[in-house]
Amino acid sequence: MLELFSDHLFFHDKPFHYFWLRDNCPCDQCQHESGQRLIEVMDVPMNIRPEAATVVDIGVDKSLQILWQDGHRSIYPASLLIAEAFVPETPSLWGGGLQTDSIRFDYNAIDDPEVKRQWLQAIETHGLSFLYNVPAQVGQVLKVVDHFGYVRETNYGRYFEVISKEEPENLAFTPRPLSLHTDNPYRHPVPTLQLLHCLEAAPEGGVTALADGFYAAQLLRQQHPEYFALLSTITLHYNFSSDSASLSSSGPVIELDCEGEIIGIRINNRSVQPVRLPFEETRDFYEAYQCFMNLLHSEACKYTCKLAPGELMMFNNQRVLHGREVPARGKRHLQGAYADIDSLRSELKRMN
Ligand code: OGA
Ligand code: ZN
Ligand code: ZN
Repeated sequence: MLELFSDHLFFHDKPFHYFWLRDNCPCDQCQHESGQRLIEVMDVPMNIRPEAATVVDIGVDKSLQILWQDGHRSIYPASLLIAEAFVPETPSLWGGGLQTDSIRFDYNAIDDPEVKRQWLQAIETHGLSFLYNVPAQVGQVLKVVDHFGYVRETNYGRYFEVISKEEPENLAFTPRPLSLHTDNPYRHPVPTLQLLHCLEAAPEGGVTALADGFYAAQLLRQQHPEYFALLSTITLHYNFSSDSASLSSSGPVIELDCEGEIIGIRINNRSVQPVRLPFEETRDFYEAYQCFMNLLHSEACKYTCKLAPGELMMFNNQRVLHGREVPARGKRHLQGAYADIDSLRSELKRMN
């Protein structure tokens, strides 16, 4: 169960560096009762070694006890060290054949903690959830946010109107179709959650399109790795300007973390700026970009539905793309709001 080497030990077949162990000592000199760290990385000598290490029985848990060369004593419950092996849950990717039964919820039931938990959990697993029976009233979208977190206010207000109007400053406020996009890539940081609430549906057209950007990016990675490499490394710039705002930000279409995992999508045809690349690289970029856009809009990826009054969709704006198909004819009115996904995650963790 315990084996010691020069700069690390094995406990339950898992290796731990001595430095890591000393740096993560849970004793009350090293960790505040709030759970926050007191020890600093500067406090630990690089060549720290145990004087002695033993397995001790404390309560039900077998613990690792270390007496360090400087006289400090650390006790690590086995559960704490084993928790380090925790593997985060993987998202459930979806395509055009999305079945929404498991991600649709009755707003009247949202005060039931289990229904609320499933509603929030759908955002983690599918990046998307629907509510029905949300009163079709002005500003109601803000009350939905109150169930888990805080509204992210922007130059569009605490909530924004999606309605055709005279002299629109944004194509959103026209009846035109909108290709699949993520909202506001010209903002830093981008809004991580978006809610769209239907107050009035167009008699004709105004259909909603949705796509799981993580799924599409994974398909692209398998089918055209060279395109995937370009879209995850070339920086695009996005701008928005109106009488009240002048915003710009930039980033790749497909954002990866240090391990190469897909963590974000940025696509917005309305606000993307002319690509700035050396002449020889420009054509390859366009091939990759067009291929990804075609993939997103293909049957394999694109899911469509028509929101009815009282329906609200909420989605991870860094994963799920949304759009509007076929020009809306007649009156149509949606209200939208942004919020931060970290507050949703916090609420979900608290509930779990
Ligand atoms: C938007 C938008 C969707 C719709 O305003 O950015 O995506 O269905 N609207 O009108
Ligand atoms: Zn300690
Ligand atoms: Zn949008």
